[in-house]
Amino acid sequence: MKVLGISGSPRQGSTTDQLVKEVLSTVDCSTEFISLAGKTIHPCRACLGCVKDNTCVIKDDLTQLRQTIVSADAYVIGAPNFFSMLNGLSHCFLERWYQFRHREGSAVSAKLGVAVGVGGGMPEPPAENIKKFFEYNRIECIGSVCAQGPACCFTCGYGETCKVGAIHMFYGPDTKITPELIPDLAKQPDPIAEAHRLGAELGRRLKGFAQAT
Ligand SMILES: Cc1cc2nc3c(=O)[nH]c(=O)nc-3n(C[C@H](O)[C@H](O)[C@H](O)COP(=O)(O)O)c2cc1C
Repeated sequence: MKVLGISGSPRQGSTTDQLVKEVLSTVDCSTEFISLAGKTIHPCRACLGCVKDNTCVIKDDLTQLRQTIVSADAYVIGAPNFFSMLNGLSHCFLERWYQFRHREGSAVSAKLGVAVGVGGGMPEPPAENIKKFFEYNRIECIGSVCAQGPACCFTCGYGETCKVGAIHMFYGPDTKITPELIPDLAKQPDPIAEAHRLGAELGRRLKGFAQAT
């Protein structure tokens, strides 16, 4: 049994990466983590080239990931919130799972999933989006976990004065950026505990599958 963890954050080592890895850390079976950062993944073209054999015809970085996705028994998929929804890279990645569902395709269906959401202020929307993608692909979502990540405004250099940035938006004007203010997963025990609980639950469910087959 193998669990595939995927982070759609464009930042390596990001909060999304970390939270996906926290779930993987307690599954007690084989795991693989893949970051989509730096990968070129085009959106679905609705060309229907995948209808006959459930294989996408677009050639990009998803082409070689296909077999890894198909051979996994469960998925932990995480994405950051960009403009109140999951970011474009994660959306392109998941749009292309269209290739798996034609004519009741069984490449990913009936497998298990965990949705991971991260946001500067609102981490829930990407987890909800991922749950919907799971549903379309007939993947059973056993739960979701969300955490706060550091908005880029903490490090862009203009965060304290920019009136349209996250610092003003979330904390108000005249806020000073201090190390304590910067969101850090290590300072959020509840999502870490929930990630560990979900990972353990995923492992138990997979062992049940293995024994039944
Ligand atoms: C283009 C862009 C749009 C964003 N929009 C939102 C938003 O609407 N709501 C929110 O809570 N955070 C928003 N954020 C903040 C990110 O969700 C936050 O930085 C998060 O930590 C990113 O995840 P990562 O650390 O795993 O990369 C946005 C960030 C970017 C770059």
